[in-house]
Amino acid sequence: MKTLCLYYSRTGHTKKAMEQLAELTGGDLYEYTDGKDRRGVIGYLGACLDSMKKSYPKITIPGNPDMASYDRVMIGMPVWAEGPGVIGRALIRQYKDKLPEDVYFVVTHMAKTDYMKKIRALDTLLGRPAKGHLSLRTKDHDFTEEINTFAANL
Ligand SMILES: Cc1cc2nc3c(=O)[nH]c(=O)nc-3n(C[C@H](O)[C@H](O)[C@H](O)COP(=O)(O)O)c2cc1C
Repeated sequence: MKTLCLYYSRTGHTKKAMEQLAELTGGDLYEYTDGKDRRGVIGYLGACLDSMKKSYPKITIPGNPDMASYDRVMIGMPVWAEGPGVIGRALIRQYKDKLPEDVYFVVTHMAKTDYMKKIRALDTLLGRPAKGHLSLRTKDHDFTEEINTFAANL
């Protein structure tokens, strides 16, 4: 299976998770972005504001992977404001017709409770059921075992 791993990451946790998944699946790793610098407190506040907006930003994937050449895609994104963040949702909305057949959603968050219900709701945005959903807690938690188990069950 040729695997494409995509991620958005403000502080590096989602990036780390997707790097591990790319390593385990032999996948190609690309970052997607809305082009905004969200470092530091100003960046955090900007992320909060963007989470409240009803509009979706335009997403680019530097390096432009050829989506059609992949069998599956894993899309990583952080939780912002109690749900999968707006940048990840914007990616799904913009690219849903170009994504490979098999789609997996990987969402990272601080909270101890998982976000599976809200991750599954991304299927509505995608317009079809995703093949898999993974909710990873990042605060004070090493998620390596969960990633290993997820990859082993693909
Ligand atoms: C604007 C904003 C809102 C957030 N809201 C939540 C939240 O509602 N629940 C939660 O568990 N984590 C929340 N977080 C924390 C991130 O989801 C968590 O730290 C994530 O792993 C960060 O991923 P990253 O390092 O790839 O950016 C929020 C972070 C930001 C920046």
